[in-house]
Amino acid sequence: MRTLGTVAEAANFRLASPSPVVLVPTMGALHRGHAALIEAARSRAGQGGTVVVSIFVNPSQFGPSEDFSRYPRPLDDDLALCRALGADAVFSPAADEIYPPGDSTVVEETRLSSGLCGARRPGHFRGVCTVVAKLFQILRPDAAIFGEKDYQQLAVIRRMVRDLFFAVEIIGYPTVREADGLALSSRNRYLSPRERELAARFPAALLAAKALADAGESSADKILALARDGIARGTGREPQYVELVDADDLSPRAALDRPAVLAAAVLIGETRLIDNVRLDPPHAKI
Ligand code: PAJ
Repeated sequence: MRTLGTVAEAANFRLASPSPVVLVPTMGALHRGHAALIEAARSRAGQGGTVVVSIFVNPSQFGPSEDFSRYPRPLDDDLALCRALGADAVFSPAADEIYPPGDSTVVEETRLSSGLCGARRPGHFRGVCTVVAKLFQILRPDAAIFGEKDYQQLAVIRRMVRDLFFAVEIIGYPTVREADGLALSSRNRYLSPRERELAARFPAALLAAKALADAGESSADKILALARDGIARGTGREPQYVELVDADDLSPRAALDRPAVLAAAVLIGETRLIDNVRLDPPHAKI
């Protein structure tokens, strides 16, 4: 496995590598969720193709009061995991490689980014789009894999790729969870043991709302009320948001009459958790 530190090294590696090149963008502190994405990339690339994992804690997607400086950076462990999973290269550039001095261009998706997490984290998706666009330009992947755990991110990137004619196939991967339902996240390591217990009630509340929808309820108000209540009672915290949105364009839905996503965020202690479940309209079921 190669480790690539500079943009020039990464671009040269790509030129010398057999297609398809499949990219897994990450910020490191890799867990089983990331591992599943890397395995999916390996199988998409085949033994003849090339898997590149990027590890870059992207400063531009963190707000001024967010956890950029304390974000975990266990690079040696991450490299060992990537090697064990059969990645061909890891690209882990320094910040001034990606944002050279004088850099003044950003990429901003302006519609799907505005609600949900975007409304609470101003500039976050501009930072995500900018770094992902740069990674696509440097590494020219044929395909890139993103987790459904960050559902809005996946939708925004799909939109950016269409709007800017990137020749990259975007592949979504289902959320990998702990045995008690908590979605794996690099930020879970911030949780104290007590907070970790409370955190499991968050996905449980979303699943209870999904069960209501699966039983035939299509009113967004009723589904959302159950989810909001379950999160507040289970975790002791009012959720930052709970919304039912269209699965493709993320517009708010008043009724479950199209494939939708129930998405929510909650602060447990200092740690912000996000999660979502897919809801299908009753008539789509057999
Ligand atoms: P990061 O949070 O490290 O996540 C990297 C990828 O792993 C994302 O596509 C994310 O959705 C996916 N992922 C995280 N937890 C997951 C889980 N439990 N199950 C499945 N997939 C999971 O997302 C980012 O980094 C950054 O915003 C990035 C896209 C790299 C741009 O900086």
